[in-house]
Amino acid sequence: MELLLATQAAEGANSPTATIVMTILVGGLVAFGLAYFIVGPGRGRKTGDKRTGDIPLAMRPYHSDEELESTAMERAMSWGVALSLFAGVFLAVYWMIEPARINAQMDAYYEQDVSAGRAAFVSNCATCHGTEAQGGSAPNPYSDAPWPAPRLNNIEARYADSEIVSDVEDFMKQTLIRGRPGTPMAAWRSDYNGPMNDFQIDEIVEYLLSIQIDEVEEIDAQAFAGASGGEIFANNCARCHGDNLEGRIGPTLTNIYERYGATLGDESTYGPVRDTIEQTLVNGRRVPGVGVMPSFKDTLPEDAIQSVIDHIESQQVEGGPRFGQVGGTITPEELASASDSDDAAETPEDGS
Ligand code: HEC
Ligand code: HEC
Repeated sequence: MELLLATQAAEGANSPTATIVMTILVGGLVAFGLAYFIVGPGRGRKTGDKRTGDIPLAMRPYHSDEELESTAMERAMSWGVALSLFAGVFLAVYWMIEPARINAQMDAYYEQDVSAGRAAFVSNCATCHGTEAQGGSAPNPYSDAPWPAPRLNNIEARYADSEIVSDVEDFMKQTLIRGRPGTPMAAWRSDYNGPMNDFQIDEIVEYLLSIQIDEVEEIDAQAFAGASGGEIFANNCARCHGDNLEGRIGPTLTNIYERYGATLGDESTYGPVRDTIEQTLVNGRRVPGVGVMPSFKDTLPEDAIQSVIDHIESQQVEGGPRFGQVGGTITPEELASASDSDDAAETPEDGS
């Protein structure tokens, strides 16, 4: 009977049954212990002569030889057999239900983390990334065009064969911990002036991992029909590289041909640079711990990528910063003052 219950408990990994079996086992153990002390082998002699109370412990009479060889020995032996049997059954049943119990407990902890993570996500992240992590947008500190906040319920699928991200879980944690300086994505961990500790960040990541779907949007080639390279650049690149390619979070692009070894005016030297830019657009790039240049392989069709490169090519000038992103990087303070001055500009209107 106990065995049956235990097997069910183990198979179903069902914590109520496991709890019942556990209770029966522990109850049995307690009852056994009580019986042992009340009617067990050690008890028999005390029920004998009351006067033994006066005799010093070491000198009290024990069982007679005859008793020792018959009844006393049998009693002791049958208790021994009973105890061994009980221990055998107890250990076997315990061994069977314990893994199920541990699993059930871990599931319970996992569910707690996920639901705490969901709650934290809804109150901290949903305004930009959407209530179901379906993606959304954030205010752009540099212009009126909204800044896309990526969809997060397919982040595993999006980075599945990425060259810049090998461990999506770690990538999410790092993004949360440090944020993306210069973009609307703030840092969340306390040592980067965020409001959260590692535990809360882990819970959110646990939640996001629990809702992943294996679906990446198809490129909507129609949306790019007739768009010029300049327009595509303005919509997809300007927020990070500046309206005139002057550089911001991403490097200056006005001199990228020269930086990569092409001679301006000599088109025969352009090929390798175009390839490099195309690779960058397809794979994305990651500046460890800070910025990300997203991959555009799921958003821009091949001809749109070529027109953006044409646009960049048409804007090349000589000179300018040698190291791209150094010239373009802005500090969090600059970002903050940029959004402050936006607010300041609006306040008088609101007030009047
Ligand atoms: C103010 C809006 C905003 C809030 C609030 C916000 N994010 Fe973001 N998040 C963004 C933007 C914008 C980006 C993209 C930045 C970029 O362009 O590189 C981003 C990027 C990310 C990325 C990287 C996505 C990718 O595909 O590379 C993750 C992961 C992320 N956010 C998680 C979170 C989580 C979790 C929270 C809540 C704790 C949160 N974000 C809160 C705006 C926001
Ligand atoms: C979220 C911000 C962001 C967006 C949007 C973005 N980039 Fe970038 N880009 C970066 C960052 C950051 C780097 C620097 C990466 C590095 O240093 O490895 C970069 C690097 C580059 C480079 C290489 C520059 C060099 O000097 O090696 C090119 C080319 C480039 N981006 C083109 C584009 C184009 C074209 C678009 C639009 C289709 C675009 N980027 C959109 C942030 C962005």
